[in-house]
Amino acid sequence: MNTHYEKSLQLFDRASKVAPGGIYGHMSPAACLPGASPYYAVRGEGCRYWDVDGHEYIDFMCGYGPVILGYNHPEVDEAAAKQRELGNCFNHPTERFVELVERLVSLVDFADWGVLAKNGGDVTTWAIQVAREHTKRKKIIRLKGSYHGVDPWCTPGHGGLIEEDREHIHHFAWNDLTAFQGLVERYRGEIAGLIISPWHHPVFADSDFGAPGFLIGLERICRAEGIVLISDDIRGGFRLNIGGSHEEFGYTPDIVCFCKALGNGYPISAALGTDALRVAASKVFLTGSYWNSAVPMAAALKTLEILERDNVIAKIKQTGQRLSDGLVKIGEKHGHSIKPSGPPSVPFYRLTEEKNFLRQQQWCAEAMQRGAFLHPHHNWFICAAHTDADIDAGLQIADDALAACVKQWD
Ligand SMILES: Cc1ncc(COP(=O)(O)O)c(C=O)c1O
Repeated sequence: MNTHYEKSLQLFDRASKVAPGGIYGHMSPAACLPGASPYYAVRGEGCRYWDVDGHEYIDFMCGYGPVILGYNHPEVDEAAAKQRELGNCFNHPTERFVELVERLVSLVDFADWGVLAKNGGDVTTWAIQVAREHTKRKKIIRLKGSYHGVDPWCTPGHGGLIEEDREHIHHFAWNDLTAFQGLVERYRGEIAGLIISPWHHPVFADSDFGAPGFLIGLERICRAEGIVLISDDIRGGFRLNIGGSHEEFGYTPDIVCFCKALGNGYPISAALGTDALRVAASKVFLTGSYWNSAVPMAAALKTLEILERDNVIAKIKQTGQRLSDGLVKIGEKHGHSIKPSGPPSVPFYRLTEEKNFLRQQQWCAEAMQRGAFLHPHHNWFICAAHTDADIDAGLQIADDALAACVKQWD
């Protein structure tokens, strides 16, 4: 047994007896080296967290994205606590709901209305229903390798699905505008919606920006064919542009979906859309036991205020660039090239010499043992609490970790 993570492994053992798979979904350790990373967290502060074995990490995952200002952000937590004193879950929404939707509508250039939910998948699935309701068409087009949640139409898992779940879902490859055009010609008049991410961010592969003309080309075809264009900005939302990543990449969707960074860790998601879709949006039933909870809405309002006030997005782009430049240099120094891809505030890193991610797993595991949480096959996330000193400390660990690996490999 790896005694470094003794308590983590014990807890995992206990969990496996009462929860199928022990830890499920994207946090499952199944795709990583067995026992080579922490499995359970205890507390967080700023850009750091501590695991159950008492180890401290400079965190480059930020809770897989939600933490944009830092763990336990005092102002966000204070806003949430203030609302909690008044109450969280009522028979009705609170004024926070109206304030938050108003705020989001004012931030997103094309939006005339918004709705709030809890998770990203709530709103991506709802958005495709709105597209179907609006167009009275069945088909949804999406990108190969994209991720939109775990509902049957899009889950990357295989269990529990029936063929009919995907009967009207069609795929094409990122940057292949001709393939999209081909689908449109083949299914002319049957396509309700196209759902895209602002850039391609698969796991176990480099991120990819749209080639010149790709995203705008998709938008043009959608407009000409009456296809609802949905931008799934769950992952990048509020890390590239306060108005949505579509602004950064120069296209205009009909619906945009946000989640992750919106509440700095408090559970909240949103979809925003155009007037043309308002009637359809009002007809697609939307609710959940906790969807009107006021505490996450208060947290989201404060998060948005701080994002603007402190110019957070510009800062995390710079911080991310510092990390990226540093990692590239570390790769060069050790003769094992590290390739960055995607935006610096939501970057993906890969050791270019291998295809199977084994060395990448070893490198990240060595870094974790030394106090930096680097993810081997998912993109990382930068937050406002990462100072230059934190980045430099993380780089030093990444450097030491790679040096330790190179001793074994070369
Ligand atoms: C691009 C994208 N869409 C949708 C989702 C689903 O969000 P959630 O896990 O909150 O349901 C995610 C989650 O990682 C995501 O990255």
